[in-house]
Amino acid sequence: MNLLDGKLVSAKIKEDIKLEAAEFAAKSGRKPHLVAILVGNDGGSETYVASKMRNCELVGFESTNIRYDESVSEIELIAKIKEINEDATVDGLIVQLPLPKHIDPDKVTEAIDYKKDVDGFHPINLGRMQRNLPCFIPATPYGIMLMLEHYKIDTAGKKAVVIGRSNIVGSPMSILLARNSNPGNCTVTLTHSRTENLPAEVLEADIIVAAIGKKNFVTEDMVKEGAIVIDVGINRETSTETKSGFKLYGDVDFENVAAKASWITPVPGGVGLMTIVGLLKNTLEAAKGTIYS
Ligand code: GUN
Repeated sequence: MNLLDGKLVSAKIKEDIKLEAAEFAAKSGRKPHLVAILVGNDGGSETYVASKMRNCELVGFESTNIRYDESVSEIELIAKIKEINEDATVDGLIVQLPLPKHIDPDKVTEAIDYKKDVDGFHPINLGRMQRNLPCFIPATPYGIMLMLEHYKIDTAGKKAVVIGRSNIVGSPMSILLARNSNPGNCTVTLTHSRTENLPAEVLEADIIVAAIGKKNFVTEDMVKEGAIVIDVGINRETSTETKSGFKLYGDVDFENVAAKASWITPVPGGVGLMTIVGLLKNTLEAAKGTIYS
């Protein structure tokens, strides 16, 4: 078993981003700037946004966190998004999901200027991604592709099984793995809650991407000898063992699956760290205007 080490790869790519951010700042007289909107007090979302902001500072970006109470109206939130769309000092804008039930996430996503949509969730970016055109790629799938690229994993012609069809991870991941690119060129099966005999599908996979949000869902009996296993799960449980009071579990039963896998990502220390890298790279591209001018 070889580890796909998110700590190592993310640190290396962040060094490159830091250099490029400094170059951008020297030329333009300002830093790349990410704005993150957070609605409510979900513990997981607060942790993720804090980490995004901290990482922006680490690589020399400016970051702004705008917070709203759980009760904010959809109209007020969208008005703020429109204001930021017009603000030339902001390069990237994200709205942390999930949102409270009274706010339509599709309306919010589509309100963001696609040229600032560094989450890559806007239909224009998703459509362009599917067509293999320059675009912002959703941060988690982007981070996974960067990880596969770093370790020079040969994906062409391989059978990939993605578990979970979310807009954020599973669906875009299935598109990226199937694209005519490197990494890519996989034969992809996108599985979900209505898939019949899901374990049998996963057992066929050379590459497994587990993005279902269920602790230890992928067990050893579902994994072919030598498979590459990418664990997107960040399942948070309260714990007395850690300083934070929480412990993270992946979607994969790491202990037992690792013995069969040729490559595997740990949780924590795997995909989560690469997601941040994907977001930082998109924000830098937004600032430089290399994707959309
Ligand atoms: N919630 C879970 N993952 C993400 C992400 O990548 N971006 C945003 N905006 N919200 C999320």
